[in-house]
Amino acid sequence: MKTIAIINMKGGCAKTTTAVNMAYILAKEYDKKVLLIDNDKQGNLSKACGVWSYDNPSLADMLTGQEEIGGVVQVVEKMPNMAVIPANMHLLTANLAVIKDEEREQATIISKELEKVKEIFDYCIIDCPPDINVSVINALVAADEVIIPIKIDGYAFDGMDELEEQINNAKALNPKLKFRGCLVTMYYNRDVCRQGEAWLQNQRYPVFKTHIRRTEKADEVTFTNESLMEYSPRSGAARDYKTFVKEYLEG
Ligand SMILES: Nc1ncnc2c1ncn2[C@@H]1O[C@H](COP(=O)(O)OP(=O)(O)OP(=O)(O)O)[C@@H](O)[C@H]1O
Ligand SMILES: [Mg+2]
Repeated sequence: MKTIAIINMKGGCAKTTTAVNMAYILAKEYDKKVLLIDNDKQGNLSKACGVWSYDNPSLADMLTGQEEIGGVVQVVEKMPNMAVIPANMHLLTANLAVIKDEEREQATIISKELEKVKEIFDYCIIDCPPDINVSVINALVAADEVIIPIKIDGYAFDGMDELEEQINNAKALNPKLKFRGCLVTMYYNRDVCRQGEAWLQNQRYPVFKTHIRRTEKADEVTFTNESLMEYSPRSGAARDYKTFVKEYLEG
């Protein structure tokens, strides 16, 4: 099983959209078994997969040790190759409980639980919040690779240094961790995006060749409990996500 953390300290740069659509494409087009982990108390990924609930077992229970991974994984009915560990607001208190419990190894909870399912899934994709907290550190310690979605604007690169520092810190516990690349999202053919993308390609960070075009369908789909791939497979963004996954697999 390969584990990928989708992460950026910046909000609203298409982390969740990337996680859901990448998972869907790997499951549907490549017949891979994919586990998605919603690592954000907002629960957007859980909603997109139709498994959000305030009461059902969730990542919070796994972090606090109340459930093992088998007790929190939910199968996505419409996509049998996909399963989700959902999240909700309980993740906030769970994160605080983990920090307080100094007796436990705080940063390896997710990686230890994932060990138990590594023969079942081909990929695990972890959708992180726009923040660094103990469950995000857990994601970095569990991951093989990090992908950073970037929406080009004046604030796009805020927090990149801090994120890189966290990635480097995680490598102390997880030497295999690799910064796989930045993925430009919500791209449109204007100077701001063209120049921003060119600038990014000249930095020291790896950048995927594929960018994801902006589409208004992406907002519409948030009302439907679906991925873009299901809601609007012919939209520019859906087609770009397919190209991106191909590039990812070939890289
Ligand atoms: N390719 C796209 N074109 C246009 N809008 C998009 C695109 N991708 C995502 N969006 C929209 O941008 C918003 C943020 O997307 P998303 O929730 O995936 O970002 P996020 O980085 O996970 O946000 P957060 O930091 O809150 O977790 C959503 O309203 C989504 O519909
Ligand atoms: Mg999100």
